[in-house]
Amino acid sequence: MGAFIQRADGLWSALRGPRSEGIDVAKEGELGPGDYRLFNYPNQASPAILIRLESGRYVAFSQSCTHLMCPVHFSKARGQLVCPCHQGYFSAEDGRVLAGPPPRSLPQYRVRVARGMIRVI
Ligand code: FES
Repeated sequence: MGAFIQRADGLWSALRGPRSEGIDVAKEGELGPGDYRLFNYPNQASPAILIRLESGRYVAFSQSCTHLMCPVHFSKARGQLVCPCHQGYFSAEDGRVLAGPPPRSLPQYRVRVARGMIRVI
């Protein structure tokens, strides 16, 4: 039974592909409060945004609006993510919809600061 479970687990891992450990997006200290960096995650066709909030906390989201997939932009003045296509507004704290037609929050990624790097997972 143990050998079967081990084989099934190996097959599952092979089908799922390598486990993602995330990617390093910036060095610690590169982004000041209110700064952001664009990157692609979890693959090259998926635009994403890393933001350092005014509080100093890092947050990362998919950059694709949940309405019709236009890229959202970070407005430092508003402290919000803004979709210019149909005036969608999202909280930069947690990606929730604040106004406009987007039906769902922006997908959010975990951010870890370790060994001088800002890593998105
Ligand atoms: S695509 Fe973003 S509000 Fe419509």
